[in-house]
This record gives sequence, structure tokens and C-alpha cells, in this order.
Amino acid sequence: MKKLAPVFALLSVILLVPACKSDFTYYYYTEEQTKVLNEYLDLPELPHDYTVTFPSHLSNVGLFPRAVERDKAVLGRVLFYDKKLSKDGTVSCATCHKQDLAFSDDKAFSDGVYDRSTTRNSFALGSVANFSAYYGTDLNGSSAIRFFWDNRAETAQDQSRGSMTNANEMDMTMHDITETVASQPYYAPLFDKAFGSTEVTESKVLEAVANFVNAMGSYQSKFDEQANNSTGTFTGNFGNVVYGNAFSGFTAEENRGKELYNANCSSCHSGNMGRPVLQLANNGLELNPTDRGVGAITGNSNENGSFKVPTLRNVTLTGPYMHDGRFKTLEEVIDFYSTGIQNHPNLHSSLRQGSNAKVFNFTHDQKQDLIAFLHTLTDDRLLEDKKFSDPFKQ
Ligand code: HEC
Ligand code: HEC
Repeated sequence: MKKLAPVFALLSVILLVPACKSDFTYYYYTEEQTKVLNEYLDLPELPHDYTVTFPSHLSNVGLFPRAVERDKAVLGRVLFYDKKLSKDGTVSCATCHKQDLAFSDDKAFSDGVYDRSTTRNSFALGSVANFSAYYGTDLNGSSAIRFFWDNRAETAQDQSRGSMTNANEMDMTMHDITETVASQPYYAPLFDKAFGSTEVTESKVLEAVANFVNAMGSYQSKFDEQANNSTGTFTGNFGNVVYGNAFSGFTAEENRGKELYNANCSSCHSGNMGRPVLQLANNGLELNPTDRGVGAITGNSNENGSFKVPTLRNVTLTGPYMHDGRFKTLEEVIDFYSTGIQNHPNLHSSLRQGSNAKVFNFTHDQKQDLIAFLHTLTDDRLLEDKKFSDPFKQ
């Protein structure tokens, strides 16, 4: 018997080789599912990895992205780009949140269904390090940051429902949405993978979109590289540090810009671009704002003219700026902060000098320095990453 062992071994190898080929070829989607998906979509054979891993400078201060469920994000990507989810079939989330613009729009007001337009400037989804790291009430309790310029939505699900049903955006009812989704053949395999069943419900649709949006993240900019190798000073605000020392990998101009930013802007927009320090503020855009912002939602007149404080990642790509897109360029934004701040009664104290609005009077060189610094916040990887791109075959 001993003598025969090698022969058996050899035989089994010979027998196993063809067996491997037919039995162990691994398809993530079944052949049938692959066929349906391939007809409409350009998805990889194996799903993309949607794990978000923060750089140490953000995780060290207690900011952690929520785990993303991969197959829900894969489904969410398709929903995000699907124009069929709008009343006239011309608008998807991506119409107003374009990947090459850090998921913002280049118009002050975006085009919704039937040539309607939004009443506010599209929010740049790529302006935050990661939505789930600080949005949503389940995460940080009362310190969670809310959605929209006027903070009216509590969770990514509320926000998506808001966009889908907004008459100026997609103008659907949630019933229209689930019916439309259920009638497209390519959704069955994706729901099956994401939820173990092909049944379409409102909450599954919203959960999938939330997973996709929560998988987005901008945290690999030049600024992040430098912050990872530096020690900052904790500011007393959750998740926030300021980097006072010059970064060795920055140019002199970028470092001067960082110093100006730290002194004049970081008390609202944050020092590490992790989490805004204030959830809302009046930054003095106008004396008599027609859009009352947060005040219109809460009915609190102390919040009139107050809007969400955005983080400024990828800000060089996300113009026009402010909730109404009033400034086309960053130069205009800096000119505004330099000499244009209006003395609204609700103007935040950090933009005041006594009872007057602050006049920074930045010199020409200082303005250039600030803008050079803002350029270090761009994260090209998010803009080019295929897993966030349009999956539909044209
Ligand atoms: C027609 C244009 C348009 C469409 C379509 C659209 N959005 Fe928006 N989105 C906007 C505008 C404008 C805002 C800011 C509105 C406001 O704050 O009042 C916004 C805000 C947001 C925000 C808030 C970000 C924050 O930090 O507060 C998220 C997230 C978002 N959109 C995701 C989506 C998703 C997901 C979809 C698809 C389900 C979608 N949007 C569809 C224009 C659009
Ligand atoms: C009091 C808090 C506060 C301070 C200080 C502050 N900002 Fe802002 N900033 C805001 C708020 C609030 C908004 C949104 C306002 C709106 O759209 O109505 C904003 C908006 C912006 C935007 C537009 C972002 C976008 O996506 O449209 C830029 C750029 C900006 N600020 C840069 C700066 C710079 C540079 C400084 C320092 C010179 C600064 N901010 C100081 C509160 C502040």
C-alpha cells in the first residue's frame, strides 16, 4: 500500500485539476444575475471595497466612520446615479452632486425636474472627511451634526427622503420610488445581495443610499499627510485640534495661509478639517437675509441668517460658494471676509470687533496665502475613485 501512495496522490492531483476548474470558479453574482446586471451596469465581478479608514490624525481625536455594509453601498451607488428615480426621468442625485466637483454642482442653483431649480446651492458631499463620522443622532448624541444648510434633517435617510420628494429636485413620492425600483430588472440581484431578498421597501432604499454616501470620504489631501506627521493642540471641542507649528511639507506660502486660517477661520471651520466646531453660525453675509436659514426651521429669531458651518475639504472645486452660491470664486469669498462682513444682530462673536462687524483687511499677499492653504485640502482620490462613479452603461 505504501508504495501505491504516491500514485494515488498523483492520480488525485490529475483528477482534481479539472474538478477545481468547474467546481471552484467563484462568481459573486450567479450567472443569471450577472447576465441581468451586465445588460445595464458596468459593475466589477467582485464588489468594490467600501471600507473607510481614517488617517491617524482624525482617529486619534476620536473620529471614527461608521462601518459601511458593502453590498448596500453597491446598491446605493446604482440608486445614486439612477435618473429613473425622478418624476421626468432626467435627474439623479449625481445631477447635483458631481464626482469630479467633489460631489457638488458648478451652478448656484441646480437643475431639478422639469427645468425647476433648487432654492439653495448644492452641498458638496466631498467637503466633509466622512458623513458618518459626525452626522446622525445615533452617533454622538446631542453633538451630532444635522443635514442641510439649515440643519433640518437628522439622518442620512431623512436627507435622502427629502431630496427624492422635494418638488424642485426629484419630485417623487416614496411610493413612486419603490415602484420604480421594483420594476427595474437590475435591482433584484442587488437587493438580494444587500438584504437577502429581492423585496423593495422604502427603508431599504434609504438605507442603501445612506451606506453609499457614508462610504464617501475625503481624508487623503496634502493637509492630511502633513497633519498625520505633526502634533496639534486640542481646542476643547470634540474631535478638534489646531496645528500651530509649520508643516515641513508645506511651502512657505501654504504655512502662512495655515497660520491665517488658524487665527481667523478655524474657530468655526475647525483646525483639522474633521468636524466643524460650530454646527451653525451667522457669518454676516447680509443685514436682511431673505433666506432665514436655521431660524426659519426653528422659529428662533436668534438663528435668523444662520446656516450650517461647512467643512472646507475640496473647497477649491466646489464653487460657487455659500448657501446661495453668491460667490463664484474663493477670491470673492476672501474679499467678503476681508471687508464685507455685515453687522447682523446675530453675527457670530468671532466675526465681531466690539459691537461692529470685524474688518480683517487682509493684504493682497495674505489673500493669496489663504487660498494657497485652501488648495492643500483637495483630495483627488475621491474624485477619481471608480467605486463612486456612474455605474450605468451609456
Ligand atoms: C436637483 C438637485 C439635487 C438633487 C437631485 C439631490 N440633491 Fe442633495 N442637495 C442639493 C441641494 C441644493 C442641497 C442643499 C439643500 C439645503 O441645504 O437646503 C443638497 C444637500 C444634500 C446633502 C446634505 C449635506 C449636508 O451636509 O447637509 C446630502 C447628504 C445630499 N444632498 C445627498 C443627496 C442624495 C443622496 C440625493 C439623491 C437621493 C440628492 N442629494 C439629490 C441638491 C440636490
Ligand atoms: C463665525 C463662524 C465662521 C468664521 C469665523 C468663518 N466662517 Fe466661513 N462660513 C461660516 C458659515 C456659517 C458659512 C456658511 C454660510 C452660508 O452659506 O450662509 C461659511 C462659509 C464659508 C465658505 C463657503 C463654503 C461653501 O462650501 O460654500 C468658505 C470658503 C469659508 N466660509 C471660508 C472661511 C474663511 C477663509 C474664514 C476665515 C477668514 C472663515 N470662513 C471664517 C462660518 C464662519
